[in-house]
Amino acid sequence: MIKALELFSGIGAFAEAARKRNINVVAAFDQDSRANLTYAHNHGLQATARNLDTITASELPPADLWWMSPPCQPYSVRGHQKGLNDPRSRSFVNLMGHLKEHKPRVFMLENVCGFMGSDAHALAMKTLRELGYENHIIERSPADFGVPMRRPRLYLVATADGVTYTNSKTAATPSIVLKDFVDESYPDELIVAQRDFEKYAPSLHIVRPGDVDAYATCFTSGYWKSYRASGTFIEVDNGKIRRFSPDEIVALMGFSATFAFPEQLTLQAKLQLAGNTVDVRSIEYILDGLSNLN
Ligand SMILES: C[S@@+](CC[C@H](N)C(=O)[O-])C[C@H]1O[C@@H](n2cnc3c(N)ncnc32)[C@H](O)[C@@H]1O
Repeated sequence: MIKALELFSGIGAFAEAARKRNINVVAAFDQDSRANLTYAHNHGLQATARNLDTITASELPPADLWWMSPPCQPYSVRGHQKGLNDPRSRSFVNLMGHLKEHKPRVFMLENVCGFMGSDAHALAMKTLRELGYENHIIERSPADFGVPMRRPRLYLVATADGVTYTNSKTAATPSIVLKDFVDESYPDELIVAQRDFEKYAPSLHIVRPGDVDAYATCFTSGYWKSYRASGTFIEVDNGKIRRFSPDEIVALMGFSATFAFPEQLTLQAKLQLAGNTVDVRSIEYILDGLSNLN
């Protein structure tokens, strides 16, 4: 069984992808207690509540594979693109410093496409090359798998000790339409208030799920409160619009039908966690490209 660490584990997109493969997540780390509650609820592992800015190499158990999806705000076009000067990059820098001691056979990182060419990208490439890794950059979006959602993301995959990576062919998928992901029943809280609708509607991405070419854009953790470039809205009856529900978002992101948020979390918390997560199909695609890992 391949041992993996899930760093910045959130609600466990990596654990979702690993479950169907010969990969055992031996430890997960995140500082958000709501994420850790959701992780334990679904993956049978208590993620460690720890600020990764200061975690030491000895606190990380040995593993064959490291997966990490560090905060993307330092590299996102929506942020100020301060890169390594952004305090939210500290955890990433700290963990890169521990690679030498641990030297997992596979290192995988997910981030926004703006990560490419950043000082953090340069630091990762330098560190990995000096340690003898072979590096691959892959861009994937749920849309590549026939899912009506556009969320392109960058994946850095580094392999060592005989492990290799090759892009696999994306299996042709039957076209899935947005309607397949939309529930008939939803909480009233998801409906946008009339005054907000009047103020923001012209700048929103609003879809009619019945349209065959309707697609969802990238949801963000600010989707529950923000109207600017934070995600797609659905037209409902009576000329109203509503937000997607957390369950609809994670289904679009490839989480299994058995995945569930703990009841005690608020709708806001669920939307934040769902907006922060990673496309499971993209992780599966990359895991399937690894050879000689057993
Ligand atoms: C982009 S999200 C990753 C989501 C996750 N991969 C998933 O599958 O849902 C970043 C995560 O990193 C966590 N995080 C951010 N900074 C952190 C830090 N310094 N220490 C620990 N966790 C941190 C956040 O709580 C958030 O869950």
